[in-house]
Amino acid sequence: YPSVRQMEESSVLRRANCRAKGGAPGFKVAILGAAGGIGQPLAMLMKMNPLVSVLHLYDVVNAPGVTADISHMDTGAVVRGFLGQPQLESALTGMDLVIIPAGVPRKPGMTRDDLFNINAGIVRTLCEGIAKCCPNAIVNLISNPVNSTVPIAAEVFKKAGTYDPKRLLGVTMLDVVRANTFVAEVLGLDPREVDVPVVGGHSGVTILPLLSQVKPPCSFTPEETQYLTNRIQNGGTEVVEAKAGAGSATLSMAYAAVKFADACLRGLRGDAGVVECTFVASQVTELPFFATKVRLGRSGAEEIYQLGPLNEYERVGLEKAKKELAGSIAKGISFIRK
Ligand code: NAI
Repeated sequence: YPSVRQMEESSVLRRANCRAKGGAPGFKVAILGAAGGIGQPLAMLMKMNPLVSVLHLYDVVNAPGVTADISHMDTGAVVRGFLGQPQLESALTGMDLVIIPAGVPRKPGMTRDDLFNINAGIVRTLCEGIAKCCPNAIVNLISNPVNSTVPIAAEVFKKAGTYDPKRLLGVTMLDVVRANTFVAEVLGLDPREVDVPVVGGHSGVTILPLLSQVKPPCSFTPEETQYLTNRIQNGGTEVVEAKAGAGSATLSMAYAAVKFADACLRGLRGDAGVVECTFVASQVTELPFFATKVRLGRSGAEEIYQLGPLNEYERVGLEKAKKELAGSIAKGISFIRK
C-alpha cells in the first residue's frame, strides 16, 4: 500500500499536472478542530470539494479516527491527520486556506462571550502556528466569539509581522444562510433564490440583516421585519436550546463554512465576481472590524463594499450593533496586548 506521504506526493503531482494542462488547480486546506461537532461534517464536505487537493485534519483528540474514516471517500483530495500540539506545525505547513472551528461551543443560557476565556487562548495558539508555518494562507475563523477572536488573531499576526487584513476572515455565513432561509419562508420562495446581506458581527444585536436590500426586491410589514430580525439574531440560540446541552449549531454551520470556504477558493483561483459577507478589517464604519459584503480574490478580501442605503429601523439597529461590537473588539485586542 502507498504510505500517506506517497499519496500526498502523488496528489501534489496530480495538481502540478493539472496546472500544466491549464486545468483547475487544487488547493491545500487545513481544518483545526476537525474532530468536533462542526469539524467532522466540515471535513467530510471539504473532502467532496473538487477545488481541494490536500486536506489536513488537526485536533487535540480523535484526529486519526476522523482521518481514517474520511480518507475512504472516493473523492480527489488526499487526507492527512494530525494529533496534538506537537503536530500543529506539520498540519499547517504549505496550506493555502486554514479553517478554524476549534474551541468550546455554547450551552443553554450562555452567550457567545461566555466562551471567551477558553477560546481566546486556543485561537491565539493556533494563529501563532499559522504565522510561523503558512503566513500567506487565508484564514476562516469560526471559533466564537467571532467578534473578539478575529481581533485576537489580527493581534497575533501583527506581533509576528505577518498580518494581512485581507486574509483574515471571520465566518458569519451561517447568519446569511439562516437569513436566506427565514426570509424565503416568509416570502414563499426557494431559499436558493434569496440573497439577504447580513452585516455587523456574529452575536445577538451585532447580527444586522439588511431586509431593505433583499434580492429579489421585496417589502416587509413592520411585524415581519421585527419577526425576521429577531429570528435571524437568535437563530443560534434556537439551536442551542433545542439541543438542550448537547452543543450549538454544527451541521448548518459546517454547510455554511463550506459555502464560505468554497467562495474563498474560487477567489484564490481567480474567479470573477465572488461576493460574500464576512467579518473583516474594514473602514466602512469607525470600528476596526465589521462584517459586510466583500469581493473575494487571489489575495483574499480584495474589495469591501459599503453598507448601501439603510432604512430607519436598520439605522437604529446599526447604532446598537456598533456599541456592542466596539466592546467585543476591544476585549479581543487587549487579550493579546496586555
Ligand atoms: P466541539 O466541542 O464539538 O468541537 C470543538 C473541537 O475543537 C473539539 O474536537 C476539540 O477537541 C477541538 N479543540 C479544542 N481545543 C483545541 C486546540 N487547542 N486545538 C485544536 N482543536 C481543539 O464544538 P463545535 O460545536 O464544533 O463548535 C466549535 C466552535 O465553533 C465553538 O467555539 C462554537 O461556538 C463555534 N461556532 C461558530 C459559529 C459561527 O457562525 N461562526 C456557529 C456555531 C458554532
